[in-house]
Amino acid sequence: MRHYETMTHTRRTDEFTSDNAVTTELTRLCEHIAHTAREFVVSHKPPRAQVLDTKSTPTDVVTQMDRDVEALIRTLISQYRPGDAFLGEETGLHESTGGLTWVVDPIDGTVNYLYGLPGYAVSVAVVAGPPTPDKWQQIAGAVIRISDGKLWSAGRGQGAFSDGERLKVNEPHELGKCLTGTGFGYDPRLRFLQAQVLTAVLPRVRDIRRNGAAAVELCLVADGSLDLFFERGLSAWDMAAGGLIVSEAGGLVTGMREQNPSTNMTIAGFAPMVASLTEILISQDADAPIETVHF
Ligand code: IPD
Repeated sequence: MRHYETMTHTRRTDEFTSDNAVTTELTRLCEHIAHTAREFVVSHKPPRAQVLDTKSTPTDVVTQMDRDVEALIRTLISQYRPGDAFLGEETGLHESTGGLTWVVDPIDGTVNYLYGLPGYAVSVAVVAGPPTPDKWQQIAGAVIRISDGKLWSAGRGQGAFSDGERLKVNEPHELGKCLTGTGFGYDPRLRFLQAQVLTAVLPRVRDIRRNGAAAVELCLVADGSLDLFFERGLSAWDMAAGGLIVSEAGGLVTGMREQNPSTNMTIAGFAPMVASLTEILISQDADAPIETVHF
């Protein structure tokens, strides 16, 4: 693994987005941090993970590993990029004036981790501008699946790669042939709405997959293992790296009603199929205010 020099952090946002060498360097750093975090998880994983705390609902859990990996990544970023801001799932936003923010999910798919299922990952991205999905410009990102070390990464304008191969989304021409990933939030009202929406989507696509880690599912769209992905309720750290990886693989990542991807809705895949899926989501009011949902 290569050594990283601390990089300058006094540039303006537009300089970050147009400087190829910086983008390459940031991509390598995302990959390096992802690999280091995975090595930590693999070597410190207890035989049986325990719930340490809960967040938005009793099923939205935190483990010691979520906290330890986030602390490790923060330390690495403060060494390599001391002037950058940090947004992590477990500790929130730590602001800075450098123009870049690292957006990190230390363990995406915490419930998989808790149950010993393989589909969890570390997601590391760096964005310019406000660190919110509808406003940022993703510069670089990497997602690493812990179980087998598979790594997907991308740099803005430089393509998406995995195992040295350039990634390209599938280009199916019928929604009915699209293998479609999705996920569900932790709020029971949101889950009720998501289940209703699914009754309209499932008969119109090839089939549905739910891996349990949105960052991985986005990468699976990028590498052609899924045709489409949609989910309402994703947070910035779930989509920062994976969203860039899909766009750099030639896919569209968007929201509903011509909005940018956001917590309201994230839809990813080959643009014409995203449009077909979006029509169904709109017909189902998949972004209806959660307060109006009663079950
Ligand atoms: C969750 C996973 C899951 C998705 C949820 C996310 P977490 O992230 O990505 O697949 O359906 O919406 O919150 O809580 O495991 O980091």
